[in-house]
Amino acid sequence: MNEIIDLDNIDLTKEPPLMEPDRQWYYIAKCRELVKAKSEELGRPLYASIITFGCQMNSRDSEKISGILKQIGYVETDTEDADFILYNTCTVRENANNRVYGRLGAQGRLKKDHPGMIIALCGCMMQEATAVEKIKTSYRFVDIIFGTHNIFKLAELLQTRFDSKRMVIDLWKNTDMIVENLPNDRQYSFKAGVNIMFGCNNFCSYCIVPYVRGRERSRNPQDILDEIKGLAKDGVVEIMLLGQNVNSYGKNLETPMSFAKLLSEIEKIDGIERVRFMTSHPKDLSDELIEVMKQSKKVCKHLHLPIQSGSSRLLQIMNRRYTKESYLELVEKIRAAVPDISLTTDIIVGFPGETEEDFLETMEVVRKVGYDSAFTFVYSKRTGTPAATMEGQVEETVAMERFDRLLKEVKANSVAAGKDEHTTQKILVEEVNEQNPGLLTGRLSNNLLVHFKGSESLIGTIVDVFLDESKGFYYMGSLI
Ligand code: SAH
Ligand code: SF4
Ligand code: F3S
Repeated sequence: MNEIIDLDNIDLTKEPPLMEPDRQWYYIAKCRELVKAKSEELGRPLYASIITFGCQMNSRDSEKISGILKQIGYVETDTEDADFILYNTCTVRENANNRVYGRLGAQGRLKKDHPGMIIALCGCMMQEATAVEKIKTSYRFVDIIFGTHNIFKLAELLQTRFDSKRMVIDLWKNTDMIVENLPNDRQYSFKAGVNIMFGCNNFCSYCIVPYVRGRERSRNPQDILDEIKGLAKDGVVEIMLLGQNVNSYGKNLETPMSFAKLLSEIEKIDGIERVRFMTSHPKDLSDELIEVMKQSKKVCKHLHLPIQSGSSRLLQIMNRRYTKESYLELVEKIRAAVPDISLTTDIIVGFPGETEEDFLETMEVVRKVGYDSAFTFVYSKRTGTPAATMEGQVEETVAMERFDRLLKEVKANSVAAGKDEHTTQKILVEEVNEQNPGLLTGRLSNNLLVHFKGSESLIGTIVDVFLDESKGFYYMGSLI
């Protein structure tokens, strides 16, 4: 749990401490002085805006960044003419990178009319030397660049920028450090993401993540449990445990602990009603975990189990370390233990060498499993990964055509969608419906959405709704 640090008690006449997190609290206090002075000079608060690309790891990192900025005294905004702008980048596919360059160009033009503006870049794309080179030469107006391993250092880097007036670049290749007890600013009051591990050791042949997020590191179970207890005290009812491969949690701890055991410990925490996790690698999904999911009252009836391809031949070249057959057996085992579970997946089409036969095997798996939804991607070449130099790169038109067929197949085969029509179910009420402000939106344990009429005061609570009508991937319901 976060200790409360009194910034006024930090003696800034002394040298900065060497140990973390004390060193960062010192820099937070120091930056705060400057921001306060600047804000008094301008007669208004200083604003900060964070633009986040990519996955839930990045969203979680942005919450930590936002926590640091708020402590420093910035007021968060979502406009791009703020005093401090940060892009938290993703590089998993080429289009993620292109979006950043596009936004950055516009940001540079804005900065011309706003000379005091500080522009910072962090996240996965910054761990790639080619991207950083391009920014150093073509986007000279960027002030701060850091990566995925040192986000905790933001205040120190900002202070360096205030002092030096030059582009500050701090990039680490890897780290074994996990800094606890820094500020944090959660996006929702009632649900929260909790990192349980960082990095990835799997090196799937198409994937850049292990190169930009470093080797796998698990957080200490006690730190995780303390954080969740603190969240429960704060009124959080649902948590999402985050890691690139949660099923291998704890293998490298001094006292190893399985993911299933961690889940059982979390289950005991009062106040937490729902537990989700992301992502599960099929090769490491244990019988012990299936048993915990079966027994648990809190673990949600939803499993995201990326298959990537239905062709065992391609799976081997992808370095996924399971086959179509072993995957389907696993699905059967899970369904036998937890019959009402909802399964979702990630699929790549157009991996180098993918033939029509390989693709048809993916379509077959989609029919057999009946996913409730699938994130489908056209393969994107990532420089530095083994797949980038493989022969048989698939033409874009062929990949796009397969992509469309796949989407249709996923839609036609969903199992859970509609299954609970005309039953009463529990949902966590999350927000006012974006399209229709007269409705609220909540989420079932199996992750499907329900729209219903109700008072905004229900947001953040778990309520019973009757599911009047299935609309395929969501329901219309009424409050009981
Ligand atoms: N750790 C998770 C996935 C993280 S990346 C897991 O192993 O399941 C999220 C998804 O992006 C992957 O599951 C994969 O489907 C997709 N992806 C990763 N690299 C890709 C690439 N080079 N081209 C297209 N899709 C990719
Ligand atoms: Fe990428 Fe594979 Fe690691 Fe997932 S498990 S992050 S797909 S290398
Ligand atoms: Fe996530 Fe993108 Fe990085 S998917 S781990 S933000 S490369």
